[in-house]
Amino acid sequence: MARAFAKIAFTPGVQAVQTRMGSRHAYRSVDMGESEAVALTSFETEFIRSRDSFYQGTVGENGWPYVQHRGGPIGFLKVLDARTIGYADFSGNRQYISVGNLEGDARVSLFLMDYPGQRRLKIWGHARLIDKDSEPALIARLASPDYPARIERGVLITVDAFDWNCPKFITPRFTERELNALVDDGLGQPAPRRQRGGAGPHG
Ligand SMILES: Cc1cc2nc3c(=O)[nH]c(=O)nc-3n(C[C@H](O)[C@H](O)[C@H](O)COP(=O)(O)O)c2cc1C
Repeated sequence: MARAFAKIAFTPGVQAVQTRMGSRHAYRSVDMGESEAVALTSFETEFIRSRDSFYQGTVGENGWPYVQHRGGPIGFLKVLDARTIGYADFSGNRQYISVGNLEGDARVSLFLMDYPGQRRLKIWGHARLIDKDSEPALIARLASPDYPARIERGVLITVDAFDWNCPKFITPRFTERELNALVDDGLGQPAPRRQRGGAGPHG
């Protein structure tokens, strides 16, 4: 898996900086990682299904990167299989920047935060926009039944790589729901930080 991530992220320019800054040798092992095969495990799946938001980066036809926040009910980012995730895109301010970008360039980068657990997951993939009239069955799989927002389309993402980042500098923050759960628990300790997100060398 690490190799798939390195293939996308460690461009020649990035490698040159790593060489200049003396970290290239440390990351060579990532380039040479076990395999290029990409598959979300049950660990990533559980993490993705627990999110109520994520950040999505797309590329405009002028080359500018563009980041948008996506929010919804917990689990609105669905895991369909080990290589496929997706979500229902709700109608909103009608700027259509992300959609317009994806029509020109399918590459997408997702950034998923778990503030209480101090974990973050990056996902790279290719997105396909799903028309709600021509693929209703797929839209139904991407929908969150009790969420009142109107669905305009689906966004189906084939995962090309993912990478966990270290927990450093992530300030624990809690949603109202998470705070209420802590209060109901008698103000116990926040969920223990799990190692997987912090295990890698990547910042
Ligand atoms: C009435 C309304 C409801 C919205 N609901 C959601 C929502 O549930 N989730 C979300 O991520 N964005 C929501 N948005 C934000 C819009 O979808 C926003 O238009 C979209 O994120 C813009 O995408 P873009 O920057 O890629 O053009 C809403 C906006 C409006 C005006």
